[in-house]
Amino acid sequence: MPQSALKKHIKTLRQHRSRLEQVSVRELFDADNGRASRFSIEEDTLLFDYSKNRIDPDCMNELLALAKSADIENARIGLFTGDNANFTENRPALHTALRAKDKPEIFVNGEDIKPQINQMKLRLFEFSEIVRDGSYQLSGGPVRDVVNIGIGGSDLGPQMGVAALKPYHSGPRIHFVSNVDGADFHDKVTKLDPATTLFIIASKSFTTSETMANANLAKNWLTDKVPADDIGLHFIALSTNLEATAAFGIVKERTFGFWDWVGGRYSVWSAIGLSLMIAIGSKNYQQFLDGGRAADEHFQNCDMKENIPVLMALIGIWHRNVWGFPTHAILPYDNRLARFPAYLQQLDMESNGKHICSDGKLSKFATGPIIWGEPGTNGQHAFYQLLHQGTDIVPCDFLVAAKSHEKNQTQQRMLVANCFAQSKAMMLGRTLERVIGHLKRLDLSPQQIETLAPHKVFEGNRPSNTFLYQQLTPYVLGQLIAFYEHKIFVQGTIWGINSFDQWGVELGKQLANEIRPLLEEDNSGKPISTRGPSTNMLVKKFHQLSGNQK
Ligand code: F6P
Repeated sequence: MPQSALKKHIKTLRQHRSRLEQVSVRELFDADNGRASRFSIEEDTLLFDYSKNRIDPDCMNELLALAKSADIENARIGLFTGDNANFTENRPALHTALRAKDKPEIFVNGEDIKPQINQMKLRLFEFSEIVRDGSYQLSGGPVRDVVNIGIGGSDLGPQMGVAALKPYHSGPRIHFVSNVDGADFHDKVTKLDPATTLFIIASKSFTTSETMANANLAKNWLTDKVPADDIGLHFIALSTNLEATAAFGIVKERTFGFWDWVGGRYSVWSAIGLSLMIAIGSKNYQQFLDGGRAADEHFQNCDMKENIPVLMALIGIWHRNVWGFPTHAILPYDNRLARFPAYLQQLDMESNGKHICSDGKLSKFATGPIIWGEPGTNGQHAFYQLLHQGTDIVPCDFLVAAKSHEKNQTQQRMLVANCFAQSKAMMLGRTLERVIGHLKRLDLSPQQIETLAPHKVFEGNRPSNTFLYQQLTPYVLGQLIAFYEHKIFVQGTIWGINSFDQWGVELGKQLANEIRPLLEEDNSGKPISTRGPSTNMLVKKFHQLSGNQK
């Protein structure tokens, strides 16, 4: 939306902030016994509770007015029907089509894309099933280990999904190599048998230097251990660049394509999900797609005030632009979602970490927050001190299942109790009077009480959302991811930025290519010019330390 319109809304919202600063969230609950249900939404087996944020109906109405001004209703139609959402790369962002029903058709360049999607999905499902049932034969027999080589969106989605859905695994073991650091490849493959290892080279562009370096390492690793004629069987390509996959030597039958209108960080729903399909099977993967579609339908059809991703986005704007909170923590009380914060880091920060608006002008408003997090309860014993008493306020998303997949639910109840306790503690805090009352009961001297009391005060009013779902199934995982995708889209629309490009990653890649030759052994001792004294010094020192220079 135009920044001038956003400015007006932010100004009004700041008045709401001044008003709400005078009242605690505890008081807001006391004054409204319908607050918990007013500020929560149920969808399928999932509850989204946003009542612990410092909001009230008036401020929510203003946030909803902002959504109206940003014309989110039309923007979402455009997204789903193939508008040129990613205008700097001149293409739509149609990841939602990958999980949509056959009708209505969606046209890109005059062609309905649904038949292509279905055809490719069928091939992927058939292939994943023959790998799982052992009928796909490598030089040493059925596939025992699958290694996905990819980075960013070609790694984080399938990797997170494979970890999240462990209870649904059967078939070969799945591993992920992403880092160009040779240690990653080494440590993952060291115990694998080359004769029964299948490499999936996942790269939208098939030019990403880290992925191509690791793919070549894989080729070398197989050479001499596998008959030369069989090496091809050990490689699968997932890409939009079919020329490059062929040039790498992967035949058409073992290449699964997708389309430039699927962004890398939105690609777990495409061929890039193959390792996840192999892990959980095509039926479960279909459930994952169905969950994503259910969230799409919710986003498309629900009124703004009952729309989970819209509300997530608006509360995010409230925190980022009205209160100035710089970061946002993702705290899954679900150990299998350990990679979910990292996944959302790319999804959110690569999408909305931008300072230029669609009109080419500098944004006057802060855009995407820093996303970070770790699973609970581990985080409680590491960084929650700062969440409760630090000088920065960190809005948090808690995610937790009512039921675990493990037989014994006792630990699950402990886990859930901790999750609910943390959001409650963040909200309520503990006043000085209460602390003093408590210390008095411990028979401490007035001097001791005076020294200790301030340290035990929690100011409270620390905001959070909670997602409570029945169980972490493929369907629920699909829903959660799609809700976050749409939240990011809504925020990008409000900030007036293109959430689907990523020009900010280019410069570092280019400079790495320039610096790389300077680090070669035979360049040691030669005059260095990186056009930067600090980098020159580092390159020189590198040669000394790596033993290249006597
Ligand atoms: O460098 C960023 C990026 O382009 C991401 O957007 C993408 O997910 C990742 O690199 C990997 O790209 P590719 O799938 O083309 O190898």
